[in-house]
Amino acid sequence: EEKVPTKKQYTVAIIKPDAVSAGIADEILSKMEASGMEVLLKEERTLSKEEAAKFYKQHEGSDHFEELVDFMTSGPSLTVVLSQGESGEGVVEEFRTLLGPTAVEEAKEQSPDSLRAQYGSGSWKNAVHGSDSSESAARELAFFFPKFIVPWVPGTEPPIQR
Ligand code: TYD
Repeated sequence: EEKVPTKKQYTVAIIKPDAVSAGIADEILSKMEASGMEVLLKEERTLSKEEAAKFYKQHEGSDHFEELVDFMTSGPSLTVVLSQGESGEGVVEEFRTLLGPTAVEEAKEQSPDSLRAQYGSGSWKNAVHGSDSSESAARELAFFFPKFIVPWVPGTEPPIQR
């Protein structure tokens, strides 16, 4: 059963190749759900270099870009659209809190219960992505689930399901 997510505020998560290849994707999904996240859409896919480079366009030119693209294309990922509660309000920020800091070592020190502390495989291989703003979530939803694009501006009435 597929639900159209765009009546609610949402965020986009990726269970990254390190976690999928370790066989812990379902465990991570269960953890998200136990923390109040609702899975609206879910799809396994292996990103191409072009897709990974486009997804992480803001990192182009940085010295970790090639390594990041290689990592993200190293095997299947699980792309997930998440919401929470009645309206999804606050889901972007709450999921970022659940993720913890970007670097796994920092996550372990500062936020040992976070997903990245618990499931990251080391260094920058942090097991899970989450949108950093509702604008990013809209961009990422359009990127991974183009048929669900509905323009939604935070603070306005959510769009009508089509
Ligand atoms: P970023 O968007 O800064 O963090 P987040 O994933 O928390 O939104 O970075 C994207 C990914 O790039 C990050 O999850 C891991 C990787 N990365 C590196 O490999 N090296 C780095 O120095 C940084 C900052 C990130």
